[in-house]
Amino acid sequence: MNMRIGIVGTGGFAKKHAGIVSRMDGCEVVGFAGTSLEKAEKAASGFAAAAGYEQVEAMLDNGKPDAVYICVPPMAHGPIERSLIERGIPFLVEKPLGAEGSIPGELAKQITEKRLITSVGYHLRYTDGAQKTKELLEGRYVGLANGYWLGSMPGVSWWRTLQGSGGQFVEQTTHITDLVRYLCGEVSEVYAQFNRVVMHERVPGTEVPDNGVVTLKLRSGAVVSLTNTCMLPINHTSGLDLVTDLGVVEFRAHGVRDIRKGQITEFLNQTDPYVKENEAFLHAVRTGDTSRIRSTYEDAHQTHLVSMAAVRSAETGMPVRL
Ligand SMILES: NC(=O)c1ccc[n+]([C@@H]2O[C@H](COP(=O)([O-])OP(=O)(O)OC[C@H]3O[C@@H](n4cnc5c(N)ncnc54)[C@H](O)[C@@H]3O)[C@@H](O)[C@H]2O)c1
Repeated sequence: MNMRIGIVGTGGFAKKHAGIVSRMDGCEVVGFAGTSLEKAEKAASGFAAAAGYEQVEAMLDNGKPDAVYICVPPMAHGPIERSLIERGIPFLVEKPLGAEGSIPGELAKQITEKRLITSVGYHLRYTDGAQKTKELLEGRYVGLANGYWLGSMPGVSWWRTLQGSGGQFVEQTTHITDLVRYLCGEVSEVYAQFNRVVMHERVPGTEVPDNGVVTLKLRSGAVVSLTNTCMLPINHTSGLDLVTDLGVVEFRAHGVRDIRKGQITEFLNQTDPYVKENEAFLHAVRTGDTSRIRSTYEDAHQTHLVSMAAVRSAETGMPVRL
């Protein structure tokens, strides 16, 4: 019997996941829940077995999904997850877990208590490059890492407000913060400085900072600098450079460069991380075997705590210990 998948959200990433799921054997998309019936029905029209709903509960009652994808902006988290936890329905939720700290904290506790299968869209963990980096780091000491998210401002209106997205460090740079944890271990201290320079004058309604510099101290002793900007007219780069005793490992979304004395070796990704992320989650829902899931809600919550510590540090001017 086909596994029945419900999708909450009708935007870019709802469609991305729905497309991947609908091409997988033994799965069908049975519904979209959106902020209006019109948008939900339009999103559902591309999928033979799907219906559109204005309310998440109506999709759960009528569509009877075995699993749900939550692809909504950061400020919309909370009620959707609570409904799914209450009914014991496994879910994959897009990052970040929220625009603030209290709701993800409450949800993480409930998910642990219920032992619910969850997955979070930190897709960089599923890249071939992340696995190659793990291999390359074996037996090396990472003393320093420099991470980047240097690009332009996304066009959607929710992204520009603090209540909507939490700002770029919370919304986008979180991919790199998460990668630091995945590759180098836990964070013990956070210090951040953010500024607003031009974007609030150029794009009406902009509250989020234009630039950020965040310093992390890791439990391993390594120090990390993460920089982000959304004021560029181009998407310049995003990634993580790991400085080790044997050379630099340069992680980018498309692959990895191993830079040693007299030798540079490049590894390009061969597989699609989004497909692997979806396969891992749906395999867990089908079989109960969660071993392929590389980011659970509880794990992603630790990344979110680092984001929240950075926001607090930027507000107070003081370092925050975790
Ligand atoms: N992992 C990745 O690579 C990646 C890439 C892009 C986006 N994302 C994440 O996916 C999420 C959604 O991004 P997007 O690009 O699809 O945004 P979007 O603005 O294109 O779409 C958001 C959708 O959510 C809907 N929505 C808002 N509140 C809702 C609610 N309470 N219930 C149901 N629907 C609601 C909106 O109507 C809209 O259709 C964001 O958190 C973003 O960070 C992840």
